[in-house]
Amino acid sequence: MKQLPYLSSPRVPLILAPMAGVSEAPFRQICRGMGADVVLSEFLSSEAIRRRIHRTLEGAEFEACERPIGIQIYGADPRAMAEATALITEHYQPEFIDINFGCPVKKVVQRNGGSGCLRDMDLVTGIIRACVAATHLPVTVKTRSGWNDQMRDPVGIALRMQDAGARAFTLHARTRTQMFSGHANWDEIAQVAAALEIPVIGNGDIQTAEDVVRMVAHTGCAAVMVGRGAFGNPWLFRDARARLAGEPPPAAPTATERFQVALAHARLALRLQGDTRKTVIEFRKHFGWYTKGLYGAGELRGRLFQVESMAEAEAIFEAYLHPAASVAGAA
Ligand SMILES: Cc1cc2nc3c(=O)[nH]c(=O)nc-3n(C[C@H](O)[C@H](O)[C@H](O)COP(=O)(O)O)c2cc1C
Repeated sequence: MKQLPYLSSPRVPLILAPMAGVSEAPFRQICRGMGADVVLSEFLSSEAIRRRIHRTLEGAEFEACERPIGIQIYGADPRAMAEATALITEHYQPEFIDINFGCPVKKVVQRNGGSGCLRDMDLVTGIIRACVAATHLPVTVKTRSGWNDQMRDPVGIALRMQDAGARAFTLHARTRTQMFSGHANWDEIAQVAAALEIPVIGNGDIQTAEDVVRMVAHTGCAAVMVGRGAFGNPWLFRDARARLAGEPPPAAPTATERFQVALAHARLALRLQGDTRKTVIEFRKHFGWYTKGLYGAGELRGRLFQVESMAEAEAIFEAYLHPAASVAGAA
């Protein structure tokens, strides 16, 4: 089986999970800078791609510094999926195309998209084959352990996806009906890693650098994908890299460092997504995450959730770090 270059490094690659509304270009760039080895786009509708819907195509854009990157698509129609794959290959040339078979959101699964496909494995394999035939790029898959507990069969699902031509397999080891409740079942990641020839990427419930080390030891996965644990904490990638190398984790970021990275992230958002009120409002959640755990975080968050401009956020950070100076300045 031919190796995927971006997964074949001797060290365990760390991957930023595709996350709608979060894993956009600005956050991907911040995480790459902190040590994420691979990133993915948010999931994009194949129907919208084939119809050239501008907003969806914007989601496939990235800058060179984000490579290696995968563009993730979803849909239940093999022809639309193949067309979207061909279009993304031709116009954006990412390192790989990832198919989402994991999304649990009702509006997506109702049309058999995302994890909805898992109720019909013939459809799943048809989609993978159609996408593989439409591109010279590697096609990878990301899925859950099954539709529900009765249909929970991660190894069976994984083997069929591998047979259909998937070049890497990411398992978020929960069923669709679990949504995000309970725990990801890391034993299932281990079972799949033992059964497949293609690389298996472990995903689910990584909150700390220590969790990354535990997942690799527990499952033997080829790479680890981090989702919610990176919210406001891109340092997780830096720390996990150190822990995997057997080094002590670097010192936790200070409040100043947190604010510096939050503002660098915000400036990237303004440059890449437009200097608009919408960008600022959609960014508020990141400010909330970056300030989590800081002294007085509740009050700080309350104020950051109301900012209308990045300059306001900057002033709030400045006042937090230098309260005396800001009072004197106001006097
Ligand atoms: C806000 C949010 C958006 C998500 N969007 C996507 C997506 O677009 N594509 C996808 O495959 N998974 C998506 N996921 C699932 C994550 O990629 C990941 O599988 C899941 O969060 C479990 O990993 P974690 O425990 O490290 O967060 C999303 C998750 C969250 C919380």
